[in-house]
Amino acid sequence: MEHLRKEVRIVPMTHEHLDEVAALERVCFSDPWSRNMLAEELDNACAAYLAAIDPQDGSVVGYAGLLVVADEGYITNVAVRPESRRAGVASALLDVFVNFAVGNRLAFLTLEVRASNYGAIALYGSRGFRGVGRRRNYYQHPKEDAVIMTREFGGDVDAGAEAADGAAAHGGV
Ligand SMILES: CC(C)(COP(=O)(O)OP(=O)(O)OC[C@H]1O[C@@H](n2cnc3c(N)ncnc32)[C@H](O)[C@@H]1OP(=O)(O)O)[C@@H](O)C(=O)NCCC(=O)NCCS
Repeated sequence: MEHLRKEVRIVPMTHEHLDEVAALERVCFSDPWSRNMLAEELDNACAAYLAAIDPQDGSVVGYAGLLVVADEGYITNVAVRPESRRAGVASALLDVFVNFAVGNRLAFLTLEVRASNYGAIALYGSRGFRGVGRRRNYYQHPKEDAVIMTREFGGDVDAGAEAADGAAAHGGV
């Protein structure tokens, strides 16, 4: 089926985006990150946060976060406004991280996703991520397992799954 593609500008997230991203978190997750938590991530030298901007009105339609530890990449957040979904916005954000991983010779990108979040699991699958394990009762509100999904760029996939313990837990990712 042909889906509408939405034109967005992908830019580094800055403090001017924080109110909109915090609002997006509240819409998307049962355990949203607060504005303060997001602000702290902007000051984290190991973190890279991106915002997808609507070029028509400058509003934030999506965002995503990545933590880099040595040659390991942990995707912490991906969220898109409900009215802008299925138009390629999350894919565009993830593609930036994949290109970063390739360009910076990361061993892998990894993330956790709620076991029932079939849409997100399909998204990550479409970007080359594969299920490599499960964390029992990882999420709260409601309590649920996480599926660990990893895309390797030459490293050991099992090492990636274990090391994901260090990634930030989140209501969705
Ligand atoms: C999951 C989410 C980020 C996807 O964002 P998106 O911009 O709609 O994703 P894309 O348009 O780039 O989707 C790319 C592909 O992923 C798959 N996909 C995405 N959402 C899907 C859904 N709800 N159901 C089935 N497949 C889906 C499809 O294969 C899709 O390609 P297609 O539209 O051509 O069929 C968005 O639904 C969201 O913000 N959800 C709430 C927050 C969340 O769950 N975040 C992820 C936490 S791990």
